[in-house]
Amino acid sequence: MWKTVDDYFSGALIAADSALAQVERVSEAAGLPAISVSAPQGKLLQLLVRCVRAHRVLEVGTLGGHSAVWMARAIRRPGRLVTFELDPRHAEVARANVDHAGVGDLVDIRVGPAAHGLRALLDEKPEPFDVVFIDADKASNSVYLDYAVRLGRPGTVIVVDNVVRGGRVLTATDEGSEGVRRLVDMLANRADVDSVAIQTVGSRGYDGFILAVVTDDVRC
Ligand code: SAH
Ligand code: DHB
Ligand code: MG
Repeated sequence: MWKTVDDYFSGALIAADSALAQVERVSEAAGLPAISVSAPQGKLLQLLVRCVRAHRVLEVGTLGGHSAVWMARAIRRPGRLVTFELDPRHAEVARANVDHAGVGDLVDIRVGPAAHGLRALLDEKPEPFDVVFIDADKASNSVYLDYAVRLGRPGTVIVVDNVVRGGRVLTATDEGSEGVRRLVDMLANRADVDSVAIQTVGSRGYDGFILAVVTDDVRC
């Protein structure tokens, strides 16, 4: 039922995009795991990028570039999407996919552990990012959130994927679930970020995301 309802709304509200369909086909053919955002989730990210008229987007966890292409499509020029990917094979597939989708000029894929890459990025003192999508190893969520705030500005929108994980967030002791709870603890205790968690169902099952915004308040 969740998938059928997803398909109904997607069919009505999401324009067919052959390049996005190709991203998924190429990623699957290359043996990448089928864990990218669904079309409705991708469209939500795209609408957020549009809402804030973003020129600069940061992503942690590229995989085959599916979410990156969704977001890059809405970036205003001059613009940039910097995305971090640990696995060079994933990054190679993503490179081909973003190029084929016609947004390659906007997308900077950085290969290696994201925590290291984010540190290096911070040292470059870049212009602040307008939107951040955190979707990599869940154990490091709180580390990535901290970098997202430091690389953002008041008003920066941060989305963190997969925070419900079928309800496992409540009690499971795997490092991903522990990482989500550490993130929630951090958000609960920081005055410089305001946030909410939304549970979702759909073609990717039962999960959810956190939406956060960097506030004008000083860091506590
Ligand atoms: N955002 C993508 C899906 C990302 S899946 C989409 O929706 O299309 C998570 C990705 O994070 C995987 O490709 C995995 O290799 C990568 N990853 C895992 N640990 C990482 C780390 N420490 N640094 C950077 N990327 C990492
Ligand atoms: C997994 C990771 C994701 O980013 C996702 O959206 C779904 C599943 C995973 O690691 O299993
Ligand atoms: Mg995810």
